[in-house]
Amino acid sequence: MTELEQLILKTQEQALAEIQEIQDEQGFESAKAKFIGRKGALTALMSQMGSVPNQDKPAVGKMMNAAKQAIQKALDEQALKIKEQKEVQDALDLSLPGRKPKVGHKHPVSHVMDAAVAIFRRMGFIVADGPDIDTVWNNFDALNAPLDHPSRSPEDNFYFNLERGDDYLDRNTLLLRSQTSDVQIRTMMAQKPPVRIICPGRCYRRDTPDATHGMSFHQIEGLYVDKDVSLADLKGVLATFAREMFGDKTKIRFRPHHFPFTEPSVEADASCFICGGEGCRICKGSGWLEIGGAGIVNPAVFENVGYDPEEVSGFAFGLGIERLAMIRYSINDLRLLYDNDIRFLHQF
Ligand code: PHE
Repeated sequence: MTELEQLILKTQEQALAEIQEIQDEQGFESAKAKFIGRKGALTALMSQMGSVPNQDKPAVGKMMNAAKQAIQKALDEQALKIKEQKEVQDALDLSLPGRKPKVGHKHPVSHVMDAAVAIFRRMGFIVADGPDIDTVWNNFDALNAPLDHPSRSPEDNFYFNLERGDDYLDRNTLLLRSQTSDVQIRTMMAQKPPVRIICPGRCYRRDTPDATHGMSFHQIEGLYVDKDVSLADLKGVLATFAREMFGDKTKIRFRPHHFPFTEPSVEADASCFICGGEGCRICKGSGWLEIGGAGIVNPAVFENVGYDPEEVSGFAFGLGIERLAMIRYSINDLRLLYDNDIRFLHQF
């Protein structure tokens, strides 16, 4: 091999090695200039062709061309490699902030329920539980509801098996409980006084859904049985609850009402926490917001569960959780709570 041929091969080798290292546009420009440009190394060798003996010229020329092509090919390949690397980098930009996973949160009803439970627990109430399906006895009879009480109507309740002949007045017939007051019965049947429980839970009524009614809703029931429990104790507990739930200045008022299981019975209102009692859109101008029913436990209920009404007295209350949630979050239609519209739920 002639000296020129060796130089060609060496140049080619050097070029290929350097091209491997190229990382950017500038690298290509200078490599091109250095090896195959007008003043490049290979071009310089080309000018020595004149001194090559004639019979060797074709072979050396061929070698020269092959070297030039190899270098060009290496440049092209490296360019492609860089381009692909860049594409991968662009697709995977590690400097971008991460995508935030959509994390859910508590439903407003659960939120208010938990808040209410926490308040009563601080006052010493224990959480009691009961099944959503209960007997007519627990839901009505033991709670002193007369057989002709309108709240027993099949049109207002979800009884089981009436179509198979079960009687909705039979104490063993099952229904989706229409109130959480059945847990009062279950608890008193199971333990001796004193009793201090709350029961957060779901209940069911055959109401046509509208802005303030659903087929199912949540209540938090409270029951306090001990010696010498009075209406003042009830008012104190509900006032404390209302202040913690709606703010320090909240007041409580009782309006006379009727429930079979309490005597006297009241409906409890909290002063409107928006207007402070002056009257606004939320309280519909009255200054008060109804939060639930309550009263002094009817002695007949104590007799039904085997407590001595001469010995003990007590109060009970039942608060509507959806109602509390609507008040607390200024929601004007209860159905919004159950539409499962993320845009709505995200606000809380
Ligand atoms: N159970 C009653 C209702 O659903 C509420 C209530 C509970 C009233 C306890 C008095 C005492 O309307």
